Amino acid sequence: MNKIISILCCSALFVSTAAFATPASDALLASYKAAGAGKADAAKGKADWTKEAKGEEGQMMSCSTCHGADLSKSGEHHKTHKVIKPMAPSANAERFTDEKKIEKWFKRNCKDVLGRECSAQEKTDFLTFLLAQ
Ligand code: HEC
Repeated sequence: MNKIISILCCSALFVSTAAFATPASDALLASYKAAGAGKADAAKGKADWTKEAKGEEGQMMSCSTCHGADLSKSGEHHKTHKVIKPMAPSANAERFTDEKKIEKWFKRNCKDVLGRECSAQEKTDFLTFLLAQ
């Protein structure tokens, strides 16, 4: 019985306002908050998505270099030319459903673009922006 109550309690706590929130995205947003992230700023996530920075290999890159600026459409890896399915959960229901996958790619992609890992706040802003697409 206690277990049921605690499940009810905590899933209610994680209910988020993002249109396409998943249990994985809710759990990650909670962990970013625990790691010190403040309020989500989707507008900052949106602006950062297309903001170019000198990537790990010295060339100018942004998230949209591979994922595109229209998230409802497929993107393409800038080097391998492999198609990347749409990032918008409204166009691709598989998006943001696996915590490990999200973290793995945040780590790799932030290093590619920024030459460092993203902070908990940056990930909060990106994820909140992406979930609303
Ligand atoms: C060099 C190409 C490239 C760049 C630049 C890039 N990504 Fe990615 N990203 C990928 C690939 C490839 C995948 C994995 C394939 C897939 O999920 O379709 C991926 C997956 C992701 C995922 C996982 C999505 C999910 O369904 O769980 C997130 C989150 C992500 N990227 C965020 C970002 C952010 C934020 C940036 C900018 C800081 C960025 N990416 C820049 C290539 C890139």
